[in-house]
Amino acid sequence: MLRRLHPEQPESFAFTATNQQWAEAQITKYPEGREASAVIPLLWRAQEQEGWLSRPALESVADMLGMAYIRVLEVASFYFMFQLQPVGSVAHIQVCGTTSCMICGAEDLIAVCKVKIAEKPHALSADGKLSWEEVECLGSCTNAPMAQIGKDYYEDLTAESFGKIIDDLAAGKVPLPGPQNGRYAAEPFSGLSSLTEHDAGKPQYNASVALATDLGDTVKRIDGTEVPILTPWLGKDGKAAATKSAPKPPKAPATGKSAAKQAAEAKSKPAKTKKAEAKPAEVKEDQPETLTGARGGAPDDLKLLKGVGPKLEQTLNELGFYHFDQIAAWTDGHVAWVDARLKFKGRIERDGWIEQASKLASGDVTEFAKRAKKDGLYED
Ligand code: FES
Repeated sequence: MLRRLHPEQPESFAFTATNQQWAEAQITKYPEGREASAVIPLLWRAQEQEGWLSRPALESVADMLGMAYIRVLEVASFYFMFQLQPVGSVAHIQVCGTTSCMICGAEDLIAVCKVKIAEKPHALSADGKLSWEEVECLGSCTNAPMAQIGKDYYEDLTAESFGKIIDDLAAGKVPLPGPQNGRYAAEPFSGLSSLTEHDAGKPQYNASVALATDLGDTVKRIDGTEVPILTPWLGKDGKAAATKSAPKPPKAPATGKSAAKQAAEAKSKPAKTKKAEAKPAEVKEDQPETLTGARGGAPDDLKLLKGVGPKLEQTLNELGFYHFDQIAAWTDGHVAWVDARLKFKGRIERDGWIEQASKLASGDVTEFAKRAKKDGLYED
């Protein structure tokens, strides 16, 4: 299926404050230079927030990760869990149309979608609440035919049971996910033929249905308010951090040293984690000297700085920075000033803009600039 950007795009995208905080925390999971690894979680959060991925959303995620826009579009257009067009406000229904499901009645389910939602896939229902599409195997072939709705699988469907689920969703009800024909999970319909002793005393629902039932909502999107944003790997924010940073009892001696000796040594050494947790002193913002235009009308190509894409270059130009030597001269206060005006704080330091700019200003070349020039790419 052709997956491309929707012809109608919103003007802009911004994460909510909570989601922005969450997204920035996710990026810190990855080592320096590997921030692009956070692309899928960030895209997913953007989609959870908006329902689909618009061009501004893709660009915003790309800017946060210092990636070329095309790289982020490649990811978003590859996985069909990402929606590149608006979806139903209540639910987007993904009907599996691959072999097992097709043999067992997927075409009947698609016919139901056409009648109850919209004639064409990816079109919204008249009330805007629902949309549908056919997708490839969702890995629940023993429970064919099936559909994914929100976070859950609805399995062992018939045209009738599927139609009822769609009606319930449109009416604001929360249908029960899982097998719809009385099966517990993927056992034979006639009942277990082995391991029958495990049948007695099992919970009412299989684990995924039970979780959906506990949540009481199968189609609710994550909005950033469900769970506290924990960043235990940074040693801060909440309980998980406290647990992680709590001193551990010394391990059994592996080097001939007694546990007591190791504990004493550990105590006398400066705690590494404490140092990492120490809050840096706040640097006061200090506005650097800016220009109203490039000197001689010839700006430097700021995209040769690793971490600066076309959008960031434009932002820097708008702030009054056109040349490498301007950036090379930034003090800590200047960095704080510029940082406060970028969407994602910390990238100047993280990507080493000042060191890169100093090299480029002096006529030297960085590894990244060399590669970018050679490949015609500006980002990793
Ligand atoms: S064929 Fe439909 S889930 Fe595998």
